[in-house]
Amino acid sequence: MNLTLKTLSFAVLASVSINLFAADAAPAGDKPAAAPGPNPAKQAIAVRKAAFTLIGNSFKPIGDASQGKAEYNQADIQKRANRIEVLSEFLDTSFPEVSNLGEPDTKARVEIWTKKAEFDKQLKDFQTHAANLVKVAATEKTASDAFKEAAGAVAKDCKGCHENFKIK
Ligand code: HEC
Repeated sequence: MNLTLKTLSFAVLASVSINLFAADAAPAGDKPAAAPGPNPAKQAIAVRKAAFTLIGNSFKPIGDASQGKAEYNQADIQKRANRIEVLSEFLDTSFPEVSNLGEPDTKARVEIWTKKAEFDKQLKDFQTHAANLVKVAATEKTASDAFKEAAGAVAKDCKGCHENFKIK
């Protein structure tokens, strides 16, 4: 072995052990390969999960009222519909391609990126129906047919998109 090769293999070994050491030092739960600093993929996943959790939380009483399982309270329904509309806008920028990490990081299916036009349309429909629900809730004083129809359109969007684009 000549000197250059020796130096080279020493350098390689040294860098491997440095990497191993770095991996050991990484906090539990973090993948060793994760780059230090903010990770755009993980941030996008965190934002969309938070948005969906709040959307789910906000929609529950609306769904219940539209099915007669809970009383219709116009002020409350309006407040919740407004929240869903605003939260739905966070989803526009919450599915960058880098965030296609698969499980266990995310339940977003790969089809979101391979059938992007279809996904974008389902998202757009959801935003349109959420905006319509805000309008309808502003005028409906009871769980009228108009309210039920508007809430039903939103519920259909949740279900449809989950069937196509969310891992069960
Ligand atoms: C355009 C597609 C789409 C629409 C519309 C949609 N979802 Fe989702 N939802 C997803 C995807 C994709 C995920 C998985 C996100 C992830 O794990 O990164 C998800 C995840 C969730 C979660 C789990 C959040 C978490 O912390 O893991 C809840 C709750 C949820 N959605 C509720 C709803 C409700 C309620 C509606 C309708 C009011 C709705 N979603 C509409 C695509 C959609």
